[in-house]
Amino acid sequence: MVVQIEGVSKRFGNKEVLRDIHLHIPEHSIFGFIGANGAGKTTLMKCMLGLLPLSAGGITIAGEKVTFGETKSNAHIGYLPDVPEFYPFYNARQYLELCAVITDIPKMERKTRIEELLTLVGLADVTSPINGYSRGMKQRLGIAQALLNRPKLLICDEPTSALDPAGRAQILSILQQAKAETTVFFSTHILSDAEQICDHVAMLHEGKIIFQDELVKLQQRFHDQFAYTFTISAEKAMKSLQHVQFHMEIDGDQLIVTLSDDTQRLAFMRELTRQGLIVQSLQPQTRLLEKLVLEVLT
Ligand SMILES: Nc1ncnc2c1ncn2[C@@H]1O[C@H](COP(=O)(O)OP(=O)(O)O)[C@@H](O)[C@H]1O
Ligand SMILES: [Mg+2]
Repeated sequence: MVVQIEGVSKRFGNKEVLRDIHLHIPEHSIFGFIGANGAGKTTLMKCMLGLLPLSAGGITIAGEKVTFGETKSNAHIGYLPDVPEFYPFYNARQYLELCAVITDIPKMERKTRIEELLTLVGLADVTSPINGYSRGMKQRLGIAQALLNRPKLLICDEPTSALDPAGRAQILSILQQAKAETTVFFSTHILSDAEQICDHVAMLHEGKIIFQDELVKLQQRFHDQFAYTFTISAEKAMKSLQHVQFHMEIDGDQLIVTLSDDTQRLAFMRELTRQGLIVQSLQPQTRLLEKLVLEVLT
């Protein structure tokens, strides 16, 4: 485990914002930390960085105990805050060069590391200053900066929240690639973002963890209610599948079919073949977490 959080509580005055948190983050996972605004996500991340004193419990990162105000454990962490700030008149490459100097990256390594990261985040060809960047570009630069030192843990606080769907997809893809060299812990209130790339998730609700597990394990719990999205000519499909007993909905040019078990799944596939319907793509619907959250909270 790269992160072990045991019994952490955090009070501001007499307001208890985190309550007896236990969280274990395995190495090389993408861990989604989900929760509504005000749930306490940022507070826990700041505790992990030693930026806030704990009211109870302890945190260990890469074997190092986190101590308030001390930065030893932070040597293992790359951190992207929710609203990253940069020197506006530098461009991405100059900015990373400055960070590399400040953080003592050996001179020999600097250039290759920076180019590698600029390519990863899609900013290798951008030469204009940061003050003209979109929010998505700033988030991407922030990830590059956080990864500069090859941290064992990358913490990103709501990296996708302020972005449009294309910008969000870019960030998710970068985090997924970053998993090869580090462990990714990111917070979000967008359940589908977590579901797309995470292998582990935990949900924080009013300062308490209400579930945490591997995503596949959570999926198994809901296995019998799985919906699949088929991309086929929906119009044609509806016409030729009218008589069959599956629960189907049309969403744009996609057909969403709810198949309750493997027998149904096979039967549906057979029906498609029989009708000569070509499936362009097939994927499980990413609504698992939504269901889970509704189940837990109601
Ligand atoms: N420095 C602080 N002093 C008092 N209350 C705070 C402080 N920081 C956060 N809070 C409160 O803690 C709760 C959780 O906030 P936060 O961790 O920012 O949630 P999230 O990141 O999940 O949106 C909120 O009710 C917030 O108002
Ligand atoms: Mg927050």
